[in-house]
Amino acid sequence: MYYPDEIIEEVRARNNIVDVISEHVRLQKKGSTYFGLCPFHNEKTPSFGVTPSKQMFYCFGCGAGGNVISFLMQYENATFSEAVKMLADRAGIKLPEVEMSAEMKKAANEKQLLLEINKEAAKYFYYALRSPAGKHGYEYFKGRQLTDDTMKSWGLGYSNMYSDDLVKYLRSKGYKDEMIVKSGLASHDEKHGTHDKFWNRVMFPIQDINHRVIGFGGRVMGEGEPKYLNSPETPVFDKSRNLYGLNFARSSKKGHMILCEGYMDVIAMHQAGFNEAVASLGTAFTSGQANILKRFTQDVILSYDSDGAGTKAAIRAIGILRENGLSGRVLDLKPYKDPDEFIKNLGKEEFEKRIANARNSFYFEIDVLSRNFDLSDPDGKTRFHKEIAGKLCSFADDVERNNYLEGICREYSVNPESMRKLVGTVVAQTGLIKPLKPRPLPTDNKKNAPEEGLKTAQRILITWLSEEPEIYPKISEYISPSDFTDELYAKVAKKVITGIENANLIPASIISEFEDEEEQKIVASMFNTGISGPEGNIIENGSKLDREHALKEILIKVKENSYEYNSKKLSSDVAALDDVIKGKKQLERLRGIQITLDK
Ligand code: CTP
Ligand code: MN
Repeated sequence: MYYPDEIIEEVRARNNIVDVISEHVRLQKKGSTYFGLCPFHNEKTPSFGVTPSKQMFYCFGCGAGGNVISFLMQYENATFSEAVKMLADRAGIKLPEVEMSAEMKKAANEKQLLLEINKEAAKYFYYALRSPAGKHGYEYFKGRQLTDDTMKSWGLGYSNMYSDDLVKYLRSKGYKDEMIVKSGLASHDEKHGTHDKFWNRVMFPIQDINHRVIGFGGRVMGEGEPKYLNSPETPVFDKSRNLYGLNFARSSKKGHMILCEGYMDVIAMHQAGFNEAVASLGTAFTSGQANILKRFTQDVILSYDSDGAGTKAAIRAIGILRENGLSGRVLDLKPYKDPDEFIKNLGKEEFEKRIANARNSFYFEIDVLSRNFDLSDPDGKTRFHKEIAGKLCSFADDVERNNYLEGICREYSVNPESMRKLVGTVVAQTGLIKPLKPRPLPTDNKKNAPEEGLKTAQRILITWLSEEPEIYPKISEYISPSDFTDELYAKVAKKVITGIENANLIPASIISEFEDEEEQKIVASMFNTGISGPEGNIIENGSKLDREHALKEILIKVKENSYEYNSKKLSSDVAALDDVIKGKKQLERLRGIQITLDK
């Protein structure tokens, strides 16, 4: 931990979570909780809740959750210390200067180290480009008409002919080979030892939304394979959740974003004044990226290569935009291949016109579709019209579908009435209008695994205890932290119980004792699990009898599970015998008693 616990707690307490989140998400108050559309996944009805009394947020849709620090970590893709720093600034709290001793360096978390290594490497490449040995690289960029200013603001660099000098440099800065390899800047094998991944290339540092270098792309100067080499994914480089150029484009006030394919395209566009351009990172456009763009705009203009592969990628991206509730338009770059070449040849005014004339993505899709049919042949024409009807069915909204239908019919000289009939036939055949593909739950969502059911009972108990500490004395003789069979759960349970005993339980401050984002999410879920009954959440709204019954059931479930868990351990751990015997007695007693919850 960088800062003392008391400082972190002060920073957390002085930043009201409702105020901070309201700066990014529109929230509406319902009862004691504020609700809004979750910024971490795509949804149409709010399942993202912020509870002032707990100073926590939690999304029932995707499981994102935590306190105000976690929110900034997840929203700004920041490390724990960075989020604390942002909040301290916001609240006008002066953080103590932290001198990094060798020991602290070791303790600093891995992400922090990887970010430092990337930053050092970026500086190394940057100076190399400006040194005599980097002349080749500098000339290459000049040849591509980049100005010195552009090279500077994008931090462009050069990796020289030697394949071990970056590794040596990073070692001299005190980084261990293991971390250097983990950063993706070097590989290790028996024959060559640890050696640089990038050499003899011009270098594009990839920055996240907060200008931190998280990876690199390197291009050969001239012809050669592979043309671009990219850093692999690392704990700080998630290719599906970052966009090249977004650190600048986020403050563009154009009202739209331009999405393209290449690093050079983004840079050429920014240099020409189109500072709203971003690109995916040598990989296909993802839902995660669409969700990030959605924070800034509804209107995404695709500027993909005009060749076959680019068109295919554009069609795929359109689908992803649509699934995530964004509208896409498509730029026509013909006769040039990509935005970089277009601007070089026709200039920015011409490019500006193409932006104004960007086509609605549906028309673009139909246009691409039309190339598969021979429209001079009646048969081909009929099949084409049927395909259009099928596509029109993807609009569930009548008005929207009709507008598209009329527009397309005008464009391809089709009688709107016959198209309407055709759509009717397709609907009759397929049953109904194809609903939009629901977004799959994130893969790390293991809610259905069998042990999740048991953990749910443990989570309910922790939530209940934190919301209603008065129940603790009534159940304390049956329950202890060791009944929570997962290490993280046991740790949190212990903190909750200690907090109740000392009458200073603050769930949100327990969360900031965990620096890892994933752990924070899990801990947040422990404070936000209810039992649904006919009246809503039984813990909050159930009758006295229901609540008493529910509490007993939950206790028994948790106890049975811990009993079973300890019994299994017996063969390898004799010390567990005591626990097993004690647990059995408690369970028997528990089954026989009646819990009374007098308010
Ligand atoms: N790309 C990659 N690996 C390759 C080729 C391309 O990762 N071997 C990625 C890079 O992110 C690149 C983007 O795909 O920026 C677009 O590739 P391409 O259209 O081939 O390159 P351009 O952007 O046109 O690059 P240049 O103008 O430098 O030729
Ligand atoms: Mn290009």
